Amino acid sequence: MEKFSKFRDGATGVAPFLPVKHTQAPSALSKVVLAPLAVVSWPLLVVYFFAYFLLFQWIPFVSTWYLQFILKSLRLLYINFSYEGEKRVSARRCQQLRAKPGDVIISNFVSPLDAIVFAARQPTTFVFPTTDGQFATAGVLAAASQALSSQAFSAKGKDISSIASKAKSQGTVIVLFVEGTASNGRGLLTLKDVNVTQFNEAKSPLNVFPAAVRYTPGTAASPLPQTSMGYLWRLLNESWWYMCSVRVGSEPLRGEGITAESMTRAICTVGRLRQLGDELDLEAKQEFLKAYKEKR
Ligand SMILES: *[C@@H]1O[C@H](CO)[C@@H](O)[C@H](O)[C@H]1NC(C)=O
Ligand SMILES: *[C@@H]1O[C@H](CO)[C@@H](O)[C@H](O)[C@H]1NC(C)=O
Ligand SMILES: *[C@@H]1O[C@H](CO)[C@@H](O)[C@H](O)[C@H]1NC(C)=O
Repeated sequence: MEKFSKFRDGATGVAPFLPVKHTQAPSALSKVVLAPLAVVSWPLLVVYFFAYFLLFQWIPFVSTWYLQFILKSLRLLYINFSYEGEKRVSARRCQQLRAKPGDVIISNFVSPLDAIVFAARQPTTFVFPTTDGQFATAGVLAAASQALSSQAFSAKGKDISSIASKAKSQGTVIVLFVEGTASNGRGLLTLKDVNVTQFNEAKSPLNVFPAAVRYTPGTAASPLPQTSMGYLWRLLNESWWYMCSVRVGSEPLRGEGITAESMTRAICTVGRLRQLGDELDLEAKQEFLKAYKEKR
């Protein structure tokens, strides 16, 4: 019997918590060069992140530029931000399509890079569902760390309307990582913890745009918990380059039309992701990790 069949979705065959393996063996050149290169770039990146934490995050405009620089240093060489139904997007059209302050982007969650990719585009407030039916906000570094954790995001929750009105006044968009924990990017975990009532009852209706993130090679995903230093090392040691595609829906979900099902469907459609069963949630991930540790 397959080892982790319990954690594989019955309908689609997707096992969302298994780490992504390289499809090709590393070339001789990358075996020789990548590790020494990682030894050099790893401490530099640690310094870059500290500089962001201590200084650059506080400087408007410079902070997004600086995150783009960090992404390049992480070898994320190309980010394809595309909008559903739009082919070649001019700079002007791009401005029109871009989410406005207070808008909510709901996205899948694959890796610590996700948060950096969104925040490098425009000022962003990150939000995670809490287990008690509220929503908790996070800065970019906290949101990135959450991708390496197997626990629910722990912070005091608020309701989504008050988060949205604050975001609007601060000029940030909201990126809500609806799954709450990272998967390997092959499907969308259940959105059990997202309290949709708060979206339906929001005083001023929220514009909710679906989005989905995908990486090439897929090994950038972090379905297993890891330390941030360990992840950074793995990222640098394993590939010469990474690419990211972010697809965003052009039609927002609004008001009563927002249900867990409509959110799930919209994200899966925009990202061509498989919709996974209800049993594959945060608790299932924790069980999986226990089994994974024992059986390996
Ligand atoms: C960017 O993504 C869009 C939509 O997925 C795709 O049509 C386009 O070819 C991609 N562009 C590049 C340069 O990969
Ligand atoms: C969802 O939020 C509403 C309003 O804050 C609250 O009354 C309700 O208990 C929450 N639902 C769940 C399932 O926690
Ligand atoms: C670095 O990657 C290579 C494969 O390219 C692997 O054999 C090696 O064990 C990795 N080193 C560390 C320290 O993770």
